[in-house]
Amino acid sequence: MRENIQSIKNEALSQIMEATSAGELEEIRINYLGRNGKLTLQIKDISTLDETEKKEVGLLVNEIKTVMTDAIATQKIKLNKQSGEWFDPTIPGKKPKSGHLHLVTQAINEISNVFGKIGFTRARYPEVEWDWFSFEALNIPKEHPARDTLETFFLDTKPSKKYGEMVLTPHTSSGQVRELQRIPPPIRMINIAKCYRRQSDVSHVPMFHQFEGLVVDEGISIVNLKGTLDYFAKSFFGVDRKTRLRPYHFQFTEPSFEVDITCGVCKGKGILAKGKACKLCKAGWLELGGAGMVHPNVLRNGGVDASKFTGFAFGWGVERALMMKSGLELADLRLLYTTDLRFLKQF
Ligand code: DAH
Repeated sequence: MRENIQSIKNEALSQIMEATSAGELEEIRINYLGRNGKLTLQIKDISTLDETEKKEVGLLVNEIKTVMTDAIATQKIKLNKQSGEWFDPTIPGKKPKSGHLHLVTQAINEISNVFGKIGFTRARYPEVEWDWFSFEALNIPKEHPARDTLETFFLDTKPSKKYGEMVLTPHTSSGQVRELQRIPPPIRMINIAKCYRRQSDVSHVPMFHQFEGLVVDEGISIVNLKGTLDYFAKSFFGVDRKTRLRPYHFQFTEPSFEVDITCGVCKGKGILAKGKACKLCKAGWLELGGAGMVHPNVLRNGGVDASKFTGFAFGWGVERALMMKSGLELADLRLLYTTDLRFLKQF
């Protein structure tokens, strides 16, 4: 019986090796391994053997079955290769590369979430905006340098009698009066949007992002502004970060401030371990951006009763906040807006 099995095996293997098509191979498989195949019939006879024989022949048959099945598969691959139709479904696949959100989008989502938790509603206003919302309604006088063509992109369109020329919005503050006109107080807005200015160098890009907060209600004071700033600094930059307000001047806020945050590298000390001055900050502080109490003229331009309501506003750069958070020191900010995957993949 063993000899029989061995000769069936040899016969089958030589047929397999000579087969020239997949159809032929299938026929061979049926002939030997099918329900009435030669090897299958031998298996049926195993039951007539004594116990030890049964075991050994059983193992042998199984082994031969595997050898034959493998030989058929190998021959199939060989034939496929020869015919040029080569596809091996058993080769491990290449994992598709999964992308991720752009660094700036990640920051925008995070900022939006941080403010969302304390009841701010995300708003978006036109990127192509009237001069009136961008400047005039914000109390910015006609002769102010920001209104010069050197800073702002003016559109070559017919000016409106009411709103003046069209511009690419130079800051998210243009959303303040739009929001005031849209809904009555209480207002808690976070406007995160693209802004455009005529600037392009290592630390400036012509298109960048700002996030603008606006809170208007009865009895809003600087205390509320400071509390909000502290909350943002701790949530976005880390629990150990502190903020301070430095007096400054903006036309649309009174009083106005520049907001500073303690440096994450020297921990607000201004000096590093070996007594060296920290290069990243000024004496322990980093400049975050502008803020202040909304000017009564701005409230009035938004149709809000300035004798009843007060508010605060702040406006900061997303890219700047992102770099301050991550400790990312970009030699050239413009890199953020290239499509170079070698750069973008890192984040
Ligand atoms: N819009 C100002 C800028 O782009 C930033 C700013 C300052 C926004 C003070 C504010 C604010 O809301 O209160 O430079």
